[in-house]
Amino acid sequence: MKVVFLIGTRPQYIKLGALYPHLKNTDINPIFVDSGQHYDYEMSDIFIKELRLPANFLSLSAGSGTHAQQTGNILEKFEKLITEMSPDIGVVFGDTNTTLAGALVFAKLNIPFAHVESGLRSFDNNMPEEINRKITDRLASFLFCPSQNSVENLKKEGISEGVYLTGDVSFDIYKRFKHKFKETRYINSLGLEPDHYYALTMHRQENTHDTEFLNKLLDFLTTMEWQFAFPVHPRIAPLVKGRRNIKNVLFLKPVSYINMQQLIYHSRGIITDSGGLQKEAFFAGKRIITLRSSTEWIETVNCGLNILVGKSISKLESALSLKHVETANCSPYGDGNAASRVIEIIEKL
Ligand code: UD1
Repeated sequence: MKVVFLIGTRPQYIKLGALYPHLKNTDINPIFVDSGQHYDYEMSDIFIKELRLPANFLSLSAGSGTHAQQTGNILEKFEKLITEMSPDIGVVFGDTNTTLAGALVFAKLNIPFAHVESGLRSFDNNMPEEINRKITDRLASFLFCPSQNSVENLKKEGISEGVYLTGDVSFDIYKRFKHKFKETRYINSLGLEPDHYYALTMHRQENTHDTEFLNKLLDFLTTMEWQFAFPVHPRIAPLVKGRRNIKNVLFLKPVSYINMQQLIYHSRGIITDSGGLQKEAFFAGKRIITLRSSTEWIETVNCGLNILVGKSISKLESALSLKHVETANCSPYGDGNAASRVIEIIEKL
């Protein structure tokens, strides 16, 4: 069975990392295609090496651009490749422009495809990712949901055929590498003291287009007693260029999967607008302060670890001053065997 897996961004290398070991000894002949949406070493190759992904990706080298340029570029190149290859099944992951382009190509060429991380909704169409999710789910034949809530979201949209509650593949890979997160090698090398810093990340369009907010946030952080470790996404790098001399904010290059998990594991908590990081901090039982007013990972809020502060500095201040977080005993993302379920289901199709 010829199965094409389309990836192309940092979180997609990680999700493929969860699936890849389960492909051995199956009837699946996997073909890995990299759209090239992320192309810097720290955003792509570093994950391929660290997660021991195969090196034989077919690359589309799509690169950056506006949403239309980027999606269009992937569409054109991927359609050509898939027409030549004519696979039995396609697989796309998450909610990026790569996901959307893959979904459109597979659907128009009448190739059934699976969506890993299906059914997530932030209910905010201002996020390009929300549009990508909805269209992909509408077109997918097999929808692999990370949580009960994501199954319900699909049901409300009238989608119930081909829906599988598998659990979250990110939880699988988290469990696989967890023994490495306790090490302090990376945080020691940065001079960070466990439990005395927060990990900070920002890359969402709504925040990276707002220099005023970014400056307000950095000004506020300088008034805090804590350190902030800030791996800077390339999207935001030009905006923070002039601000790199803040004494308690450590500006870093984008970091590898294991180093990021070490940063989270030893932190007091995280401040982020990333979807993946909200969950990874949740797995580590850390306080999550989300710089958005909605989240597609609503279970992290319902279980008591995630506070949505949007762009409000006063809400951020209150969240940072909380001594304890009341948490429910929750495990909404499965048992860490989602990836093997996904592969088993694909194999039987
Ligand atoms: C994309 C996804 C987002 C995902 C994120 C993970 C979409 C709409 N968004 O956002 O869902 O959470 O990836 O990081 O698909 N750039 C580089 N080097 C790179 C990659 C990007 O310099 O290796 C710069 C480019 O200037 C580019 C900008 O970052 O224009 C944004 O990259 P893009 O792929 O458009 O979106 P992300 O913000 O990374």
